[in-house]
Amino acid sequence: MNIASLAWLFLDPKLLSELTLTPQGSTKKNIIFLVTDGMGPTSLSLTRSFRQYRDKLAIDDILTLDKHLIGQSRTRSSNSLVTDSAAGATAFSCALKSYNNAVGVTPQRQPCGTLLEAMKYEGYHTGLVVTTRITDATPAAFSSHVTYRFYEDLIAQHQLGEYPLGRVVDLMIGGGRTHFYPPGETPYGNGGLRKDGRNLIEEAQENGWSYVGNRSSFDNLELGNNVQLPLLALLADNDIPFDLDRDDAIYPSLEEEAITAMKALSKATEDSDKGFFLLIEGSRIDHAGHNNDPAAQVREVLAFDKAFKAVLDFADSTDVETVIISTSDHETGGLAAARQLTPSYPDYLWRPEALLAAKHSGEYLNNKIASFEGEDLESFIKHEIFEKDLGITDYTPQEVESIMDHSKASHYLLNDIVSRRSQTGWSTHGHSAVDVNIYAYSNKKSTMHLLREKLSGNHENIEIGQFMKDFVNVDLTHMTKLIKGTQVKPSDVDEMTVSQQQELLDNYHGGLVNVY
Ligand SMILES: *[C@@H]1O[C@H](CO)[C@@H](O)[C@H](O)[C@H]1NC(C)=O
Ligand SMILES: [Zn+2]
Repeated sequence: MNIASLAWLFLDPKLLSELTLTPQGSTKKNIIFLVTDGMGPTSLSLTRSFRQYRDKLAIDDILTLDKHLIGQSRTRSSNSLVTDSAAGATAFSCALKSYNNAVGVTPQRQPCGTLLEAMKYEGYHTGLVVTTRITDATPAAFSSHVTYRFYEDLIAQHQLGEYPLGRVVDLMIGGGRTHFYPPGETPYGNGGLRKDGRNLIEEAQENGWSYVGNRSSFDNLELGNNVQLPLLALLADNDIPFDLDRDDAIYPSLEEEAITAMKALSKATEDSDKGFFLLIEGSRIDHAGHNNDPAAQVREVLAFDKAFKAVLDFADSTDVETVIISTSDHETGGLAAARQLTPSYPDYLWRPEALLAAKHSGEYLNNKIASFEGEDLESFIKHEIFEKDLGITDYTPQEVESIMDHSKASHYLLNDIVSRRSQTGWSTHGHSAVDVNIYAYSNKKSTMHLLREKLSGNHENIEIGQFMKDFVNVDLTHMTKLIKGTQVKPSDVDEMTVSQQQELLDNYHGGLVNVY
Protein backbone atom coordinates (compact mmCIF):
# COMPACT_ATOMS: atom_id res chain seq x y z
CA MET A 1 0.00 0.00 0.00
CA ASN A 2 1.51 3.36 -1.01
CA ILE A 3 1.18 6.62 0.90
CA ALA A 4 -1.50 8.07 -1.37
CA SER A 5 -3.89 5.19 -0.92
CA LEU A 6 -3.15 5.13 2.80
CA ALA A 7 -4.29 8.77 3.03
CA TRP A 8 -7.82 7.68 2.12
CA LEU A 9 -8.08 5.84 5.40
CA PHE A 10 -7.84 9.09 7.33
CA LEU A 11 -10.52 10.96 5.42
CA ASP A 12 -13.88 11.62 6.98
CA PRO A 13 -15.98 8.56 5.95
CA LYS A 14 -18.77 10.89 4.78
CA LEU A 15 -16.37 12.82 2.59
CA LEU A 16 -14.92 9.56 1.33
CA SER A 17 -18.30 8.29 0.22
CA GLU A 18 -18.98 11.64 -1.41
CA LEU A 19 -15.73 11.48 -3.34
CA THR A 20 -16.38 7.99 -4.56
CA LEU A 21 -20.04 8.65 -5.36
CA THR A 22 -19.38 11.77 -7.41
CA PRO A 23 -16.67 11.07 -9.92
CA GLN A 24 -14.13 13.86 -10.32
CA GLY A 25 -15.22 16.31 -12.98
CA SER A 26 -18.79 15.01 -13.22
CA THR A 27 -21.24 17.86 -13.65
CA LYS A 28 -24.41 15.79 -13.88
CA LYS A 29 -27.12 17.42 -11.77
CA ASN A 30 -30.75 17.00 -10.79
CA ILE A 31 -33.04 19.69 -9.41
CA ILE A 32 -36.13 18.61 -7.52
CA PHE A 33 -38.18 21.68 -6.68
CA LEU A 34 -41.10 21.23 -4.33
CA VAL A 35 -43.87 23.75 -3.84
CA THR A 36 -46.25 23.64 -0.90
CA ASP A 37 -48.98 25.82 -2.33
CA GLY A 38 -50.46 28.02 0.40
CA MET A 39 -48.45 26.54 3.27
CA GLY A 40 -47.29 29.08 5.83
CA PRO A 41 -45.27 28.53 9.01
CA THR A 42 -48.41 27.95 11.09
CA SER A 43 -49.39 24.97 8.92
CA LEU A 44 -46.22 23.32 10.18
CA SER A 45 -46.92 24.09 13.85
CA LEU A 46 -50.45 22.80 13.51
CA THR A 47 -49.50 19.64 11.64
CA ARG A 48 -46.56 18.83 13.89
CA SER A 49 -48.65 18.99 17.06
CA PHE A 50 -51.56 17.19 15.39
CA ARG A 51 -49.24 14.33 14.49
CA GLN A 52 -47.75 14.22 17.98
CA TYR A 53 -51.27 13.97 19.40
CA ARG A 54 -52.50 11.38 16.88
CA ASP A 55 -49.46 9.10 17.10
CA LYS A 56 -48.76 9.70 20.80
CA LEU A 57 -45.32 11.08 20.05
CA ALA A 58 -43.04 13.14 22.27
CA ILE A 59 -43.26 16.94 22.10
CA ASP A 60 -39.84 17.07 20.45
CA ASP A 61 -40.96 14.83 17.61
CA ILE A 62 -40.88 16.90 14.43
CA LEU A 63 -41.79 16.59 10.77
CA THR A 64 -39.24 15.65 8.13
CA LEU A 65 -39.57 19.14 6.68
CA ASP A 66 -38.66 20.70 10.06
CA LYS A 67 -35.24 19.05 9.89
CA HIS A 68 -34.37 20.83 6.65
CA LEU A 69 -35.48 24.40 7.30
CA ILE A 70 -32.89 26.87 6.03
CA GLY A 71 -34.59 30.19 5.40
CA GLN A 72 -37.62 32.31 4.58
CA SER A 73 -39.04 33.77 1.41
CA ARG A 74 -40.85 37.07 0.96
CA THR A 75 -43.66 36.49 -1.47
CA ARG A 76 -45.00 39.78 -2.85
CA SER A 77 -45.79 40.02 -6.56
CA SER A 78 -45.17 43.00 -8.88
CA ASN A 79 -48.61 44.44 -8.17
CA SER A 80 -49.56 43.22 -4.70
CA LEU A 81 -48.10 42.49 -1.29
CA VAL A 82 -50.40 39.47 -1.30
CA THR A 83 -49.41 37.27 -4.21
CA ASP A 84 -51.30 34.54 -6.02
CA SER A 85 -49.99 31.18 -7.20
CA ALA A 86 -49.42 32.38 -10.76
CA ALA A 87 -47.14 35.29 -9.88
CA GLY A 88 -45.71 33.17 -7.05
CA ALA A 89 -44.69 30.37 -9.41
CA THR A 90 -43.45 32.76 -12.09
CA ALA A 91 -41.05 34.17 -9.49
CA PHE A 92 -39.53 30.69 -9.26
CA SER A 93 -39.75 29.65 -12.93
CA CYS A 94 -38.63 32.88 -14.65
CA ALA A 95 -36.85 34.35 -11.59
CA LEU A 96 -38.78 37.59 -11.96
CA LYS A 97 -41.66 39.39 -10.26
CA SER A 98 -44.84 39.61 -12.28
CA TYR A 99 -48.46 40.54 -11.62
CA ASN A 100 -51.05 38.33 -9.92
CA ASN A 101 -52.53 35.94 -12.54
CA ALA A 102 -49.37 36.04 -14.72
CA VAL A 103 -48.30 32.59 -15.89
CA GLY A 104 -44.75 32.61 -17.28
CA VAL A 105 -45.11 36.17 -18.55
CA THR A 106 -43.50 39.49 -17.54
CA PRO A 107 -45.39 42.51 -16.15
CA GLN A 108 -45.44 43.68 -19.80
CA ARG A 109 -47.32 40.44 -20.64
CA GLN A 110 -44.48 39.03 -22.70
CA PRO A 111 -43.48 35.37 -22.35
CA CYS A 112 -40.42 34.82 -20.13
CA GLY A 113 -38.13 31.81 -20.53
CA THR A 114 -38.49 29.35 -17.65
CA LEU A 115 -36.02 27.19 -15.77
CA LEU A 116 -37.77 24.03 -17.03
CA GLU A 117 -37.53 25.18 -20.66
CA ALA A 118 -33.89 26.19 -20.31
CA MET A 119 -32.96 22.87 -18.72
CA LYS A 120 -34.80 20.92 -21.40
CA TYR A 121 -33.00 22.98 -24.03
CA GLU A 122 -29.68 22.00 -22.43
CA GLY A 123 -30.53 18.31 -22.59
CA TYR A 124 -32.06 17.63 -19.17
CA HIS A 125 -35.28 15.67 -18.74
CA THR A 126 -38.24 17.41 -17.12
CA GLY A 127 -41.35 16.55 -15.13
CA LEU A 128 -44.34 18.02 -13.30
CA VAL A 129 -46.17 16.29 -10.43
CA VAL A 130 -49.21 17.90 -8.77
CA THR A 131 -52.39 17.02 -6.91
CA THR A 132 -54.53 19.70 -8.51
CA ARG A 133 -55.09 20.33 -12.22
CA ILE A 134 -51.86 20.01 -14.20
CA THR A 135 -53.03 23.22 -15.96
CA ASP A 136 -53.22 25.08 -12.63
CA ALA A 137 -50.97 28.08 -12.01
CA THR A 138 -47.92 26.46 -10.38
CA PRO A 139 -47.12 23.76 -12.97
CA ALA A 140 -48.33 26.08 -15.74
CA ALA A 141 -45.81 28.79 -14.86
CA PHE A 142 -42.96 26.38 -15.65
CA SER A 143 -44.41 24.94 -18.85
CA SER A 144 -46.60 27.57 -20.51
CA HIS A 145 -47.05 31.31 -21.03
CA VAL A 146 -50.43 33.00 -20.71
CA THR A 147 -51.43 36.46 -19.54
CA TYR A 148 -54.20 35.12 -17.32
CA ARG A 149 -54.05 31.91 -15.26
CA PHE A 150 -57.51 30.66 -16.15
CA TYR A 151 -56.71 30.28 -19.86
CA GLU A 152 -56.25 26.62 -19.03
CA ASP A 153 -57.29 25.21 -22.42
CA LEU A 154 -54.37 27.13 -23.93
CA ILE A 155 -52.04 26.14 -21.09
CA ALA A 156 -52.75 22.46 -21.89
CA GLN A 157 -51.76 23.08 -25.52
CA HIS A 158 -48.45 24.67 -24.53
CA GLN A 159 -47.74 21.85 -22.10
CA LEU A 160 -48.10 19.30 -24.89
CA GLY A 161 -45.69 21.26 -27.09
CA GLU A 162 -47.95 23.50 -29.15
CA TYR A 163 -45.80 26.64 -29.02
CA PRO A 164 -42.44 27.81 -30.44
CA LEU A 165 -40.23 25.45 -28.43
CA GLY A 166 -42.22 22.31 -29.15
CA ARG A 167 -42.49 19.75 -26.37
CA VAL A 168 -40.41 20.58 -23.29
CA VAL A 169 -42.16 18.43 -20.68
CA ASP A 170 -41.30 14.73 -20.50
CA LEU A 171 -43.64 13.71 -17.72
CA MET A 172 -46.84 15.08 -16.21
CA ILE A 173 -48.73 13.48 -13.36
CA GLY A 174 -51.75 15.09 -11.74
CA GLY A 175 -55.41 15.97 -12.22
CA GLY A 176 -57.10 18.40 -14.60
CA ARG A 177 -58.23 16.13 -17.38
CA THR A 178 -61.12 18.48 -18.23
CA HIS A 179 -58.91 20.93 -20.10
CA PHE A 180 -57.69 18.16 -22.40
CA TYR A 181 -61.01 16.99 -23.84
CA PRO A 182 -64.33 18.46 -24.96
CA PRO A 183 -67.77 18.16 -23.35
CA GLY A 184 -69.83 15.12 -24.24
CA GLU A 185 -69.40 11.40 -24.22
CA THR A 186 -65.83 10.28 -24.05
CA PRO A 187 -64.12 7.35 -22.43
CA TYR A 188 -61.91 9.73 -20.42
CA GLY A 189 -64.10 11.18 -17.71
CA ASN A 190 -67.39 12.79 -16.84
CA GLY A 191 -67.17 15.62 -19.32
CA GLY A 192 -64.42 17.90 -20.55
CA LEU A 193 -64.41 21.68 -20.71
CA ARG A 194 -62.45 22.40 -23.87
CA LYS A 195 -64.18 25.11 -25.86
CA ASP A 196 -62.53 24.22 -29.18
CA GLY A 197 -63.85 20.66 -29.30
CA ARG A 198 -60.36 19.19 -29.54
CA ASN A 199 -59.40 16.00 -27.77
CA LEU A 200 -55.81 16.63 -26.69
CA ILE A 201 -55.59 13.23 -24.99
CA GLU A 202 -56.06 11.47 -28.33
CA GLU A 203 -53.83 13.97 -30.13
CA ALA A 204 -51.09 13.52 -27.52
CA GLN A 205 -51.19 9.75 -27.92
CA GLU A 206 -50.94 10.13 -31.71
CA ASN A 207 -47.90 12.32 -31.09
CA GLY A 208 -46.15 9.67 -29.03
CA TRP A 209 -47.26 10.41 -25.46
CA SER A 210 -48.22 7.48 -23.29
CA TYR A 211 -51.45 8.22 -21.48
CA VAL A 212 -52.50 7.07 -18.03
CA GLY A 213 -56.01 7.93 -16.89
CA ASN A 214 -56.75 5.73 -13.91
CA ARG A 215 -55.32 3.92 -10.92
CA SER A 216 -54.79 0.56 -12.59
CA SER A 217 -52.88 2.12 -15.49
CA PHE A 218 -50.88 4.11 -12.94
CA ASP A 219 -50.04 0.89 -11.11
CA ASN A 220 -48.77 -0.53 -14.40
CA LEU A 221 -46.08 2.16 -14.31
CA GLU A 222 -44.57 0.11 -11.45
CA LEU A 223 -43.55 3.22 -9.51
CA GLY A 224 -41.51 4.45 -12.46
CA ASN A 225 -39.85 1.19 -13.47
CA ASN A 226 -42.19 0.77 -16.44
CA VAL A 227 -42.66 4.25 -17.89
CA GLN A 228 -42.53 5.17 -21.55
CA LEU A 229 -41.74 8.89 -21.86
CA PRO A 230 -43.27 11.28 -22.61
CA LEU A 231 -45.94 10.43 -20.05
CA LEU A 232 -49.26 12.20 -19.60
CA ALA A 233 -50.97 10.91 -16.45
CA LEU A 234 -54.27 12.67 -15.74
CA LEU A 235 -55.78 10.92 -12.76
CA ALA A 236 -58.83 13.10 -12.11
CA ASP A 237 -61.13 15.34 -14.11
CA ASN A 238 -60.34 18.20 -11.74
CA ASP A 239 -58.42 17.99 -8.47
CA ILE A 240 -57.26 14.77 -6.91
CA PRO A 241 -59.32 14.60 -3.68
CA PHE A 242 -57.85 15.87 -0.41
CA ASP A 243 -55.69 13.21 1.20
CA LEU A 244 -58.28 13.02 4.02
CA ASP A 245 -60.93 11.97 1.47
CA ARG A 246 -58.71 10.13 -1.00
CA ASP A 247 -59.79 6.59 -1.89
CA ASP A 248 -56.49 4.78 -2.29
CA ALA A 249 -58.07 2.30 -4.69
CA ILE A 250 -58.85 5.13 -7.11
CA TYR A 251 -56.16 7.80 -6.60
CA PRO A 252 -52.44 7.38 -5.89
CA SER A 253 -50.82 9.47 -3.13
CA LEU A 254 -48.48 12.38 -3.80
CA GLU A 255 -45.69 10.17 -2.48
CA GLU A 256 -46.41 7.46 -5.08
CA GLU A 257 -46.61 10.07 -7.84
CA ALA A 258 -43.29 11.57 -6.74
CA ILE A 259 -41.53 8.20 -6.53
CA THR A 260 -42.86 7.26 -9.98
CA ALA A 261 -41.60 10.51 -11.48
CA MET A 262 -38.14 10.38 -9.85
CA LYS A 263 -37.61 6.78 -10.89
CA ALA A 264 -38.79 7.34 -14.47
CA LEU A 265 -36.66 10.47 -14.91
CA SER A 266 -33.56 8.97 -13.35
CA LYS A 267 -33.87 5.88 -15.57
CA ALA A 268 -34.34 8.08 -18.65
CA THR A 269 -31.18 10.05 -17.79
CA GLU A 270 -29.11 7.04 -16.74
CA ASP A 271 -26.76 7.19 -19.72
CA SER A 272 -26.83 10.96 -20.11
CA ASP A 273 -24.41 13.53 -18.69
CA LYS A 274 -27.46 15.66 -17.85
CA GLY A 275 -29.92 14.86 -15.07
CA PHE A 276 -33.46 16.14 -14.67
CA PHE A 277 -35.67 18.94 -13.38
CA LEU A 278 -38.76 17.86 -11.48
CA LEU A 279 -41.46 20.04 -9.93
CA ILE A 280 -43.51 18.38 -7.19
CA GLU A 281 -46.39 20.35 -5.74
CA GLY A 282 -48.45 19.76 -2.62
CA SER A 283 -51.13 21.69 -4.45
CA ARG A 284 -54.13 21.38 -2.23
CA ILE A 285 -52.71 22.68 1.05
CA ASP A 286 -53.83 25.93 -0.57
CA HIS A 287 -57.38 24.67 -1.11
CA ALA A 288 -57.68 23.55 2.52
CA GLY A 289 -56.54 27.08 3.41
CA HIS A 290 -59.09 28.72 1.09
CA ASN A 291 -61.78 26.55 2.63
CA ASN A 292 -60.48 27.27 6.17
CA ASP A 293 -60.47 23.52 6.74
CA PRO A 294 -57.93 22.59 9.44
CA ALA A 295 -58.74 18.85 9.36
CA ALA A 296 -58.01 18.64 5.63
CA GLN A 297 -55.02 20.95 5.95
CA VAL A 298 -53.05 18.87 8.46
CA ARG A 299 -53.57 15.72 6.35
CA GLU A 300 -52.41 17.56 3.21
CA VAL A 301 -49.24 18.68 4.98
CA LEU A 302 -48.62 15.15 6.30
CA ALA A 303 -49.05 13.70 2.80
CA PHE A 304 -46.58 16.28 1.51
CA ASP A 305 -44.11 15.56 4.31
CA LYS A 306 -44.18 11.88 3.31
CA ALA A 307 -43.50 12.77 -0.32
CA PHE A 308 -40.68 15.08 0.81
CA LYS A 309 -39.14 12.17 2.75
CA ALA A 310 -39.28 10.03 -0.41
CA VAL A 311 -37.47 12.80 -2.29
CA LEU A 312 -34.72 12.93 0.35
CA ASP A 313 -34.40 9.14 0.16
CA PHE A 314 -34.08 9.37 -3.60
CA ALA A 315 -31.28 11.96 -3.32
CA ASP A 316 -29.44 9.74 -0.86
CA SER A 317 -29.76 6.78 -3.21
CA THR A 318 -28.33 8.43 -6.31
CA ASP A 319 -24.77 9.38 -7.15
CA VAL A 320 -26.02 12.28 -9.27
CA GLU A 321 -25.56 15.61 -7.51
CA THR A 322 -29.12 16.50 -6.53
CA VAL A 323 -30.52 19.73 -5.15
CA ILE A 324 -33.84 19.67 -3.32
CA ILE A 325 -35.56 22.96 -2.53
CA SER A 326 -39.01 23.06 -0.99
CA THR A 327 -40.91 26.29 -0.44
CA SER A 328 -44.32 27.93 -0.73
CA ASP A 329 -45.58 30.50 -3.18
CA HIS A 330 -47.56 32.19 -0.37
CA GLU A 331 -49.65 31.42 2.70
CA THR A 332 -53.40 30.82 2.44
CA GLY A 333 -56.09 31.46 5.03
CA GLY A 334 -54.15 33.55 7.54
CA LEU A 335 -54.02 30.44 9.68
CA ALA A 336 -53.52 30.87 13.43
CA ALA A 337 -52.73 28.18 16.00
CA ALA A 338 -55.08 29.85 18.48
CA ARG A 339 -58.58 31.24 18.53
CA GLN A 340 -60.50 33.53 20.80
CA LEU A 341 -64.02 32.17 21.06
CA THR A 342 -65.55 34.62 23.55
CA PRO A 343 -65.21 38.35 24.28
CA SER A 344 -63.47 37.60 27.57
CA TYR A 345 -59.76 36.83 27.83
CA PRO A 346 -59.09 33.59 25.89
CA ASP A 347 -57.99 30.23 27.22
CA TYR A 348 -54.57 29.11 26.06
CA LEU A 349 -55.81 25.99 24.37
CA TRP A 350 -55.58 24.02 21.19
CA ARG A 351 -57.64 20.88 20.71
CA PRO A 352 -56.21 18.55 18.08
CA GLU A 353 -58.80 15.91 18.98
CA ALA A 354 -61.37 17.88 16.96
CA LEU A 355 -59.20 17.47 13.85
CA LEU A 356 -58.60 13.80 14.51
CA ALA A 357 -62.33 13.21 14.90
CA ALA A 358 -63.06 14.69 11.44
CA LYS A 359 -63.19 11.82 8.96
CA HIS A 360 -63.68 14.00 5.89
CA SER A 361 -63.04 17.50 4.58
CA GLY A 362 -65.74 20.17 4.54
CA GLU A 363 -65.59 20.01 0.74
CA TYR A 364 -66.45 16.30 0.76
CA LEU A 365 -69.22 16.70 3.35
CA ASN A 366 -70.68 19.64 1.49
CA ASN A 367 -71.06 17.45 -1.59
CA LYS A 368 -72.52 14.69 0.54
CA ILE A 369 -75.15 17.02 2.00
CA ALA A 370 -75.91 18.64 -1.35
CA SER A 371 -76.62 15.25 -2.91
CA PHE A 372 -78.80 13.99 -0.02
CA GLU A 373 -82.13 12.87 -1.43
CA GLY A 374 -83.84 11.42 1.65
CA GLU A 375 -86.76 12.79 3.64
CA ASP A 376 -85.14 13.84 6.89
CA LEU A 377 -82.30 16.27 6.20
CA GLU A 378 -82.11 17.34 9.84
CA SER A 379 -81.52 13.86 11.12
CA PHE A 380 -79.03 13.21 8.31
CA ILE A 381 -77.04 16.30 9.28
CA LYS A 382 -77.13 15.46 12.99
CA HIS A 383 -76.37 11.77 12.91
CA GLU A 384 -74.51 11.21 9.67
CA ILE A 385 -72.57 14.45 9.21
CA PHE A 386 -71.98 15.76 12.74
CA GLU A 387 -71.79 12.55 14.73
CA LYS A 388 -70.38 10.05 12.27
CA ASP A 389 -68.28 12.12 9.87
CA LEU A 390 -67.10 14.88 12.21
CA GLY A 391 -67.26 13.13 15.58
CA ILE A 392 -69.18 16.09 17.01
CA THR A 393 -71.93 15.35 19.53
CA ASP A 394 -72.24 18.76 21.20
CA TYR A 395 -73.69 20.48 18.13
CA THR A 396 -76.15 23.30 18.81
CA PRO A 397 -79.60 23.77 17.23
CA GLN A 398 -78.21 26.92 15.54
CA GLU A 399 -75.38 24.94 13.98
CA VAL A 400 -77.77 22.31 12.62
CA GLU A 401 -80.06 25.01 11.31
CA SER A 402 -77.23 26.87 9.60
CA ILE A 403 -76.17 23.75 7.71
CA MET A 404 -79.79 23.04 6.70
CA ASP A 405 -80.16 26.62 5.46
CA HIS A 406 -77.02 26.29 3.32
CA SER A 407 -77.32 22.67 2.33
CA LYS A 408 -75.88 23.38 -1.14
CA ALA A 409 -72.88 25.38 0.10
CA SER A 410 -72.08 24.41 3.64
CA HIS A 411 -68.35 23.77 3.61
CA TYR A 412 -67.31 27.12 5.10
CA LEU A 413 -69.84 26.58 7.90
CA LEU A 414 -68.76 22.99 8.55
CA ASN A 415 -65.10 24.00 8.56
CA ASP A 416 -65.82 26.83 10.98
CA ILE A 417 -67.60 24.40 13.29
CA VAL A 418 -64.49 22.17 13.30
CA SER A 419 -62.12 25.16 13.55
CA ARG A 420 -63.92 26.50 16.63
CA ARG A 421 -63.83 23.15 18.36
CA SER A 422 -60.12 22.79 17.73
CA GLN A 423 -59.61 26.52 18.52
CA THR A 424 -57.95 27.09 15.16
CA GLY A 425 -58.10 30.62 13.78
CA TRP A 426 -58.33 31.95 10.22
CA SER A 427 -58.28 35.51 9.01
CA THR A 428 -59.24 35.16 5.36
CA HIS A 429 -60.56 32.79 2.68
CA GLY A 430 -57.83 34.19 0.45
CA HIS A 431 -54.05 34.42 0.66
CA SER A 432 -51.91 36.31 3.16
CA ALA A 433 -48.60 38.18 2.94
CA VAL A 434 -46.66 36.33 5.64
CA ASP A 435 -43.13 35.12 4.76
CA VAL A 436 -42.95 31.40 4.02
CA ASN A 437 -40.29 28.83 4.82
CA ILE A 438 -37.50 27.52 2.60
CA TYR A 439 -36.32 23.94 3.08
CA ALA A 440 -33.33 22.52 1.25
CA TYR A 441 -31.08 19.51 0.95
CA SER A 442 -28.33 18.18 -1.27
CA ASN A 443 -26.59 14.82 -1.32
CA LYS A 444 -23.35 16.67 -1.99
CA LYS A 445 -21.78 18.45 0.97
CA SER A 446 -20.37 21.41 -0.96
CA THR A 447 -23.76 21.98 -2.60
CA MET A 448 -25.44 21.93 0.80
CA HIS A 449 -22.97 24.61 1.86
CA LEU A 450 -23.87 26.60 -1.25
CA LEU A 451 -27.58 26.30 -0.44
CA ARG A 452 -26.94 27.60 3.07
CA GLU A 453 -24.78 30.40 1.78
CA LYS A 454 -27.33 31.59 -0.77
CA LEU A 455 -30.72 30.79 0.77
CA SER A 456 -30.40 30.81 4.55
CA GLY A 457 -32.02 33.82 6.22
CA ASN A 458 -34.71 35.95 4.63
CA HIS A 459 -34.96 36.30 0.82
CA GLU A 460 -37.12 37.48 -2.03
CA ASN A 461 -38.94 34.62 -3.78
CA ILE A 462 -37.14 35.34 -7.07
CA GLU A 463 -33.80 34.50 -5.42
CA ILE A 464 -34.94 30.87 -5.27
CA GLY A 465 -35.47 30.87 -9.03
CA GLN A 466 -32.11 32.59 -9.47
CA PHE A 467 -30.38 30.00 -7.32
CA MET A 468 -31.72 27.10 -9.41
CA LYS A 469 -30.87 28.81 -12.69
CA ASP A 470 -27.32 29.56 -11.50
CA PHE A 471 -26.91 26.04 -10.12
CA VAL A 472 -27.33 24.51 -13.58
CA ASN A 473 -25.89 27.57 -15.32
CA VAL A 474 -28.71 28.06 -17.84
CA ASP A 475 -29.62 31.17 -19.79
CA LEU A 476 -33.24 32.25 -19.34
CA THR A 477 -32.76 35.37 -21.48
CA HIS A 478 -31.92 33.22 -24.46
CA MET A 479 -35.07 31.15 -23.89
CA THR A 480 -37.11 34.36 -23.72
CA LYS A 481 -35.87 35.21 -27.22
CA LEU A 482 -36.84 31.77 -28.53
CA ILE A 483 -40.43 31.98 -27.27
CA LYS A 484 -41.17 35.51 -28.38
CA GLY A 485 -43.95 34.46 -30.75
CA THR A 486 -45.91 32.43 -28.18
CA GLN A 487 -49.67 32.89 -28.20
CA VAL A 488 -50.30 34.19 -24.66
CA LYS A 489 -54.11 34.38 -24.74
CA PRO A 490 -56.88 32.54 -26.58
CA SER A 491 -57.56 34.14 -29.95
CA ASP A 492 -61.28 34.48 -29.23
CA VAL A 493 -61.06 36.50 -26.01
CA ASP A 494 -60.38 40.17 -25.41
CA GLU A 495 -57.43 40.94 -23.21
CA MET A 496 -58.61 41.59 -19.69
CA THR A 497 -57.15 44.46 -17.73
CA VAL A 498 -55.16 43.56 -14.64
CA SER A 499 -57.93 45.01 -12.45
CA GLN A 500 -60.58 42.89 -14.20
CA GLN A 501 -58.39 39.83 -13.66
CA GLN A 502 -57.81 40.82 -10.05
CA GLU A 503 -61.54 41.07 -9.47
CA LEU A 504 -62.02 37.51 -10.67
CA LEU A 505 -59.09 36.36 -8.59
CA ASP A 506 -60.58 38.03 -5.52
CA ASN A 507 -63.59 35.77 -5.93
CA TYR A 508 -61.48 32.64 -6.46
CA HIS A 509 -61.39 30.22 -3.57
CA GLY A 510 -59.33 27.38 -4.97
CA GLY A 511 -60.49 24.33 -6.85
CA LEU A 512 -62.10 24.35 -10.24
CA VAL A 513 -62.72 27.59 -12.07
CA ASN A 514 -63.86 27.96 -15.63
CA VAL A 515 -63.68 31.68 -16.25
CA TYR A 516 -62.90 33.34 -19.55
C1 LIG B 1 -58.04 2.20 -17.07
O1 LIG B 1 -57.50 2.66 -18.29
C2 LIG B 1 -57.21 1.62 -19.19
C3 LIG B 1 -56.46 2.23 -20.37
O2 LIG B 1 -57.17 3.32 -20.90
C4 LIG B 1 -58.48 0.91 -19.59
O3 LIG B 1 -58.19 -0.14 -20.50
C5 LIG B 1 -59.14 0.36 -18.35
O4 LIG B 1 -60.39 -0.19 -18.68
C6 LIG B 1 -59.34 1.47 -17.32
N1 LIG B 1 -59.78 0.86 -16.07
C7 LIG B 1 -60.84 1.30 -15.43
C8 LIG B 1 -61.14 0.61 -14.15
O5 LIG B 1 -61.51 2.23 -15.81
ZN1 LIG C 1 -54.68 29.90 -3.52
